[in-house]
Amino acid sequence: MKITENTILITGGTSGIGLAFAEEFIKEGNKVIITGRRGDRLDAIKIKFPEIITKVSDVADSDQRKELAEWVQLHHPGTNILINNAGIQLDADLTNPSNMERVRSEVETNFIAPVHLTSLFIQHLLNKENAAIINITSGLAFVPIAFMPIYCATKAAMHSLTLSLRYQLKDTTIKVFEIIPPSVDTELGHDRREDKSQSHGGIPVHEFIDGALMALKNDTFEAPIGQSVGLREKREILFEHINSRFN
Ligand SMILES: NC(=O)c1ccc[n+]([C@@H]2O[C@H](COP(=O)([O-])OP(=O)(O)OC[C@H]3O[C@@H](n4cnc5c(N)ncnc54)[C@H](OP(=O)(O)O)[C@@H]3O)[C@@H](O)[C@H]2O)c1
Repeated sequence: MKITENTILITGGTSGIGLAFAEEFIKEGNKVIITGRRGDRLDAIKIKFPEIITKVSDVADSDQRKELAEWVQLHHPGTNILINNAGIQLDADLTNPSNMERVRSEVETNFIAPVHLTSLFIQHLLNKENAAIINITSGLAFVPIAFMPIYCATKAAMHSLTLSLRYQLKDTTIKVFEIIPPSVDTELGHDRREDKSQSHGGIPVHEFIDGALMALKNDTFEAPIGQSVGLREKREILFEHINSRFN
């Protein structure tokens, strides 16, 4: 797909992968709208990058999803690309009674929100040139890490959903991408870490973005980046190997 002259809505652009995508897409001559819950972050980003359009919006709230879709389609009718990026990563001990509020919030953010937003945008995107829906899943969709079971299950669900969406849209001009990040050095997982300054490591975010942009340019519709290539190919063998590290 063409990665210039688009109008791109990125959910979750206040940090990490969403913000790095926004910066790169602006450099490439696109118009970019980012969302997030943290208004102070969005204000700071607006000062640093005045070209980026910002909107406070919580994807875990159904009414706010509808309001976002209406607002974008009214004020930025040229929007032709939706990137379902916003996500949270929590731990969950399945051997103890689950805190269902946490489970619900993770499923709502990582899975229900992209399903809903996608459905709210498809009619709009059908009329647009170079239209695309880009889902950010994870290598953990293929090889779960057992201490964060809900997160990994939502990403596996997003992988499956993306296959079905691509099939349902095969006779339209909307391209459907799945970008599959490896571990990338962002704020992801902060919600479950006591020390908020600690990162889970991973490749630098701009290295990931280079790979993702290459995949988009080349119409690689299912694009594992870095170590996700191996995770996708060798899922059963790697499941044991990865999880033994956390025993
Ligand atoms: N980093 C990795 O290793 C890795 C690996 C595989 C996949 N991914 C995926 O990449 C995506 C981006 O994650 P990241 O690594 O960039 O993490 P991040 O730095 O924590 O960024 C997550 C973004 O999602 C937003 N977000 C979370 N909940 C939201 C909500 N309810 N409403 C709106 N926005 C919300 C956050 O904004 P606010 O907090 O301001 O709302 C933030 O902008 C996620 O889908 C993640 O699962 C990341």
